[in-house]
Amino acid sequence: MNERETLKINSNGVLEIGGVDAVSLVKQYQTPLYVMDKAYIKSICNVYVNTIKDFYGDGAVAYASKAFSCKEIYRIMKDSSMSIDVVSAGELYTALSVGFPAEKIYFHGNNKSFFELDLAVKNNVGTIVLDAYQEADILNDICEKYNKTQNVLIRTNPGIEAHTHHYIQTAKIDSKFGFSISNLEALEMVKYALNKKNLKLKGLHCHIGSQIFEKKSFELAVEKMTDFYLKIKNVLNYEFEVLNLGGGFGVYYTDEDEKLSVTDYAEYIKTIAKKLNDCVIKKGIKKPYLVIEPGRSIVGEAGVTLYTVGNIKTIPKVKNYLSVDGGMFDNPRFALYSAKYTVKIANRMLDKPEKYYTVSGKCCESGDIIAENCYLPTVKSGDIVATFSTGAYNYSMASNYNRNLVPPVVMVENGKSYYAVKPQTLEDLLRNDV
Ligand code: LLP
Repeated sequence: MNERETLKINSNGVLEIGGVDAVSLVKQYQTPLYVMDKAYIKSICNVYVNTIKDFYGDGAVAYASKAFSCKEIYRIMKDSSMSIDVVSAGELYTALSVGFPAEKIYFHGNNKSFFELDLAVKNNVGTIVLDAYQEADILNDICEKYNKTQNVLIRTNPGIEAHTHHYIQTAKIDSKFGFSISNLEALEMVKYALNKKNLKLKGLHCHIGSQIFEKKSFELAVEKMTDFYLKIKNVLNYEFEVLNLGGGFGVYYTDEDEKLSVTDYAEYIKTIAKKLNDCVIKKGIKKPYLVIEPGRSIVGEAGVTLYTVGNIKTIPKVKNYLSVDGGMFDNPRFALYSAKYTVKIANRMLDKPEKYYTVSGKCCESGDIIAENCYLPTVKSGDIVATFSTGAYNYSMASNYNRNLVPPVVMVENGKSYYAVKPQTLEDLLRNDV
């Protein structure tokens, strides 16, 4: 657990999030429950927005809302002077429904539908990130229909794959995303987009990976992208105005990860800003408007999932299973990526750990696990389990598998709590059944 003022153990040995203790949250809202620390979200947005302004100048921070999407998060982003990234009609519609400014929306996706592109243009979405020739054709037609010109970026692949503490430079072009800049793919697409009457090509986008701690990989991305900007200038006599470097900053899940504080996140932006400023001068290209798109680092550590312990099964000399009332329907990340989490007993944070447990869910599937090898005090039915850093890619990837209900999301701040997303009901499950 990465302790902070809004995530700590109170004097009764109970986990406290945003000034509200876990036991009272469970009493009020039941489990399973997603809890989100609103102050954390706001402060990290603040750090990003201010750092880009102070250390670079013209730029924007677009929250990658695939990490966690609901009306309330878009309200928070709007109030925090953020831009957003959306990847579907659903995310776009949700953002627009709370009056999120359309001009501050970046619309991504490797296969946006006609309906999605039409919805975006109709609603004056600021930037659409093109990922295919066909998309450029369709989008241009839609714009013509509405008599509009649409700002676009092109998604590119700079040949850097980064993950946690490693990155590799690769000429690998096997990705469903983006046009490679290491062969002629991206250059050809740039020419193609420049010829579209109703599209205004502002620049390029790249995203090198997720859960990255190694800042060098972002420097490398800046180096490669600015090389390509120079090439475009030389070959096509065209200067881009925008550079979008995607997201990917790492967060703490377990002791295998770095523990960063909110202010530490400024370092990512400073590194990128410094490198980009240097490259612009060195290469003699126009200083671009800089966009970054963090998702996980804004909401990941803000989230804690609370469960109630049900059955406990001890297989002598093998393992202790501790089953909770959630599972892969609220957090599929172990099942999908063997992701690791820190787990604690929220109502007895100070009790001495003495046994290893596998925390399993309630789905009819052996792989339905939340975390393995959790060293905990001897657990009893009724204890409250807390899984940390579940704010990103948990609620947004939840499902109704086994017809379990997706848990509600509660925001906590200054000792108060409220629903951001209400609990699903059994009736909700039947809503679209015919
Ligand atoms: N921009 C683009 C174009 C992206 O594809 C992504 C993430 C981001 C920004 C935000 O990256 P972040 O800052 O959150 O790392 N479901 C996976 C994560 C998939 C991320 C996909 N793209 C997981 O649960 O780990």
